[in-house]
Amino acid sequence: MKVLLIGSGGREHALAWKLAQSPLMTEFYAAPGNPGIAEHATLVPVDVDDHAAVIAFCKEKAIDFIVVGPEAPLVAGIADQLRAAGFAVFGPSAAAAQLEGSKGFTKDICARYDIPTGAYQRFNNAPKAKAYIREQGAPIVVKADGLAAGKGVTVAMTVDEALAAVDDCFEGAFGAAGAEVVVEAYLDGEEASFFCLSDGKHALALATAQDHKRVGEGDTGPNTGGMGAYSPAPVMTAEMVERTMKEIIEPTMRGMAESGYPFSGVFFAGLMITKKGPELIEYNVRFGDPECQVLMMRLKSDLLPILYATATGTLDKVTAEWSDDPALTVVMASKGYPGSYDKNTPIKSIPEAGEGAKVFHAGTALKDGALVATGGRVLNVTASGKTVGEAQTRAYALLDKVEWDNGFCRRDIGWQAIKREKA
Ligand code: AMP
Ligand code: GLY
Repeated sequence: MKVLLIGSGGREHALAWKLAQSPLMTEFYAAPGNPGIAEHATLVPVDVDDHAAVIAFCKEKAIDFIVVGPEAPLVAGIADQLRAAGFAVFGPSAAAAQLEGSKGFTKDICARYDIPTGAYQRFNNAPKAKAYIREQGAPIVVKADGLAAGKGVTVAMTVDEALAAVDDCFEGAFGAAGAEVVVEAYLDGEEASFFCLSDGKHALALATAQDHKRVGEGDTGPNTGGMGAYSPAPVMTAEMVERTMKEIIEPTMRGMAESGYPFSGVFFAGLMITKKGPELIEYNVRFGDPECQVLMMRLKSDLLPILYATATGTLDKVTAEWSDDPALTVVMASKGYPGSYDKNTPIKSIPEAGEGAKVFHAGTALKDGALVATGGRVLNVTASGKTVGEAQTRAYALLDKVEWDNGFCRRDIGWQAIKREKA
């Protein structure tokens, strides 16, 4: 099979690493890719925002299957256009990608299909949103409706904080994403991520993960795209997974199909496990980054036929086998992240990883033949172990061999799970 992978982050490096192991793969391309992905695929300089150029490339190379990694091209309709041109694509239509692109859209589906989530209202002006907040009291959560790179959410512990967040949204702090605001009830519990494939009719549960969103140790400081993750999430027992499928995923699939937007791709459900059980915080319509890295480390099955079955409506014909060994990934970021940071700092060396370990590239480039850090989140040092504790020890041992002066990481990734293991 000739495959094109779209994206350039750590998630896509993990997907590329796994896809390249498939015996079905005959030719493998990535656009735009990164130096890590280049270990597995031929990089092609196609502008992925130019959908016509992507289609032209796929025709020229007679590509059989396109895997879309990030959300932005999906929300922009790349999967629709590739499908219209006759290609098999992993990733939802733009209409179905609204599950990530519009929080209000998702909340309305939840309300219509009785999916457990925080009570909410949608607003397009500040005075009404503020009146609702004053009526509800704190804690309360204020969210910009659209894609805001993970920054559009304020979990407000006081009414004043929530009122200020409403002003931020309507004053344009998140651009067009904040033109509409969702105000929702605060959910108390433990967070977990659940990944599940859907071909529109059939579902295949994948695995669970937990991440660390805050930049600082002990989960302190500003939010980031994620500083590390591990899989599985101990809070997601077999019973919680079953309830999540029945109470959240299946009604969402039904709701999307009945609304005329059957969902084909991966559901990344952000869950809060409350006293009542699993409740939906949000959906993403692509793999998590860095959650994907730990999922790929644990997946024993060939990824390519699984993603292809998702794209072609035959998900009932495949299964996914997982290693029981947990996997953990630590993000190395440029000093200063998530604030401003120096670009193009040299990465002198990346160690060879043995079996069950891998350093994924998330934000790197080659400049005059030398590897440099180009992003905020730059490397994902990933390892598995018999326990989360062992995976953590192996990941940090590998990380300590990375030679990059401008890099930093959190030293406590996995702490909740390790505390549980020691209890
Ligand atoms: P989101 O971008 O929707 O995932 O929100 C970012 C983070 O805000 C989540 O991972 C949660 O930690 C927190 N959050 C979002 N919604 C709620 C809620 N209703 N109750 C409590 N925390 C929330
Ligand atoms: N790590 C969270 C995300 O990919 O959105």
